[in-house]
Amino acid sequence: MVVKQSSFGDVTTGVTMEVIESPAKMQERAEALRLAGHTISLVPTMGFLHEGHLELMRVGKKHSDKLIISIFINPSQFAPNEDLGRYPRDTKGDLEKARKVGVDFIFYPSVQEMYPEGYQTNVRVKGITRHLCGISRPGHFEGVTTVVAKLFNITKPHMAVFGQKDFQQLTVISQMVIDLNMDIQIVGVPTVRDPDGLATSSRNKFLSREERISARSLKKSLDLADEMFRNGDRDARVIKKALESFILRHPHTEIDYVTLCDPVTLEDIQTLTDETLVALAVRVGTTRLIDNCVLHRDPDQIISEN
Ligand code: PAJ
Repeated sequence: MVVKQSSFGDVTTGVTMEVIESPAKMQERAEALRLAGHTISLVPTMGFLHEGHLELMRVGKKHSDKLIISIFINPSQFAPNEDLGRYPRDTKGDLEKARKVGVDFIFYPSVQEMYPEGYQTNVRVKGITRHLCGISRPGHFEGVTTVVAKLFNITKPHMAVFGQKDFQQLTVISQMVIDLNMDIQIVGVPTVRDPDGLATSSRNKFLSREERISARSLKKSLDLADEMFRNGDRDARVIKKALESFILRHPHTEIDYVTLCDPVTLEDIQTLTDETLVALAVRVGTTRLIDNCVLHRDPDQIISEN
């Protein structure tokens, strides 16, 4: 769908939403908003919007008076063997959902506008990208940080909202913002789930009915980790093994990783401490899904043990 720069009015609220394709135009509009004293929040997305995205937008809206979202399927974060070609799109549906949430601007650039001929610059966060998804998706986070840095420069937000579902992505972006002195507040929003526990994701649409049932094993295995932790299990190897065998009992599942690690450094741990990240990447059929949770020791328990 070609949308150069258009406004979509809402007859019920009288609010208009502007769709902007050109980075220069978006930058101009963002600068004007800042000069007029508005606060801007940004929610970067790759579209095919679902309840998780919409929750990020609600949070963004609550904390600023202008909400910009971007819809851009960023080719540089997909490896050649990944699903760029079949990544789902629904521009009409996305515009409708965004309008209902009260988005003010949709930045909707083309690949050509974002990476014109002669493009040469990347942003790379080093340490924490070596773990978790960085192992099976080399180069992925470099694509993410590069496009997010560009989106920040184009939309000039005071605040940007990301989902905790992509825990490592949120950590990597937070690190980039610190390291590059970007004056932007990064906000993380808890994972939104469907009633069956599966984290909402644009990729869920690829799951067959049977695969969808198997996909529930991701959240169930996180619950199992929580239960084991509460019961006093502290050996990461034992918990990891239990989660892996639980997931593999479900048809069509293939584990990319089940990792118990430090939520700040993302380094593997052997013995669980007060806070541990449990992160999973599982292929269900041909669809790769991720999920995570942070295990916290009950503060009362810590006090009584000291
Ligand atoms: P995308 O997968 O479209 O996700 C956009 C944002 O929505 C991310 O911050 C992601 O963490 C969040 N999100 C997705 N599913 C969620 C859920 N179930 N609950 C809460 N938040 C959820 O992540 C990307 O796009 C891209 O890498 C991007 C940051 C846009 C850069 O291209």
